[in-house]
Amino acid sequence: MATEPERDCPLCPRLVAFRETWRAAEPTWHNAPVPTFGSLDAGLLVVGLAPGVRGANRTGRPFTGDYAGDLLYRTLLDFGFATGTYDARPDDGLTLVDAAITNAVRCVPPENKPTTVEIKTCRPFLIDTIAAMPNLAVILSLGRIAHDSVIATLGLKRSAMPFGHAAAYDLDAGPALVSSYHCSRYNTNTGRLTEPMFRAVFEAIRARLPAQG
Ligand code: URA
Repeated sequence: MATEPERDCPLCPRLVAFRETWRAAEPTWHNAPVPTFGSLDAGLLVVGLAPGVRGANRTGRPFTGDYAGDLLYRTLLDFGFATGTYDARPDDGLTLVDAAITNAVRCVPPENKPTTVEIKTCRPFLIDTIAAMPNLAVILSLGRIAHDSVIATLGLKRSAMPFGHAAAYDLDAGPALVSSYHCSRYNTNTGRLTEPMFRAVFEAIRARLPAQG
């Protein structure tokens, strides 16, 4: 396998068809698997669900232009995991610091909902991404689907490490696993996830991954 699917990845027929529709409607958009953002030498890997249609699927950078990206990038900047300015564009100059961002499913799914089969089909790319990160100390999963996919990726038991907001699991070998409610528009608008709750997750991450320099 590989850390990144090819631009015309054929593995998920439903996602291919959706991608083709958007390529026809919006030929200037990215409309392809969205690659991991940041260096594979990073200590932190943030795992989201899947690109949003008018966000990462349009811009080609995870969470960029998606509502969820506003809170995610603001918090990464505040905690020193990014420098520069987030301006919802892939050329905004924002740089990740000791962090990388990817998605459990690399292609945009209809209605933001990948199927169980699509999550499983895309998992080898997550497996290879994690395997390619020699300094990985913490994986932050955004939402239950990402958390469960990370657990499966690492060959762990879901029942032993259930998803929960701010749940943290320190493994004997391998990166610590931290999970959070997804920073989606729905979760923040309904108050399920507040900014202090999200910052608390990053405090748990910083406790495990001190800033360098
Ligand atoms: N954008 C992404 O890239 N991933 C998500 O999980 C949500 C929005």
